[in-house]
Amino acid sequence: MQQTLVLVKPDGVRKNLIGEIIARFERRGLRVAALKLVKITKKQAKFHYAEHDGKPFFDELVDFITSGPVAAMIIEGENAIKAVRRLMGATNPLDSVPGSIRGDYALSIGENIVHGSDGEESAAREIKNFFTPEEIY
Ligand code: RTP
Ligand code: MG
Repeated sequence: MQQTLVLVKPDGVRKNLIGEIIARFERRGLRVAALKLVKITKKQAKFHYAEHDGKPFFDELVDFITSGPVAAMIIEGENAIKAVRRLMGATNPLDSVPGSIRGDYALSIGENIVHGSDGEESAAREIKNFFTPEEIY
């Protein structure tokens, strides 16, 4: 059993896609183990995307992810990390297959609707950045 951190990013929230995105995970057989709407701080955003610190798109990424509330959730299930990443589609929506979340709802790499942890270590770090143990069911 794995847990992964998913964010419906500010563009996904603005487009009223929270329910649509959660539904895709649930229908696949994955479970919501924690859920909340939050406007994250710059500090929290920089920690969340720490692996990209120093890259040319880092400042833009932090500005975007703090531009409005995100729907933060822990998604749980067998191989949840990979299953969620597949449901999300490729990072650049132009490469995401239709049927994936990004392939259906996004066009630009900077505004690609959804985040999912990319491995067990990042999932553990990211979950701690958003949820206390008491908020996880
Ligand atoms: P995420 O972390 O948001 O789930 O996305 P990801 O794993 O698919 O992609 P990642 O490489 O972690 O990049 C994080 C976010 O940074 C933006 N990005 N822009 N302009 C660029 O070359 C570029 N590369 C990445 C994207 O918004 C990506 O989701
Ligand atoms: Mg990533």
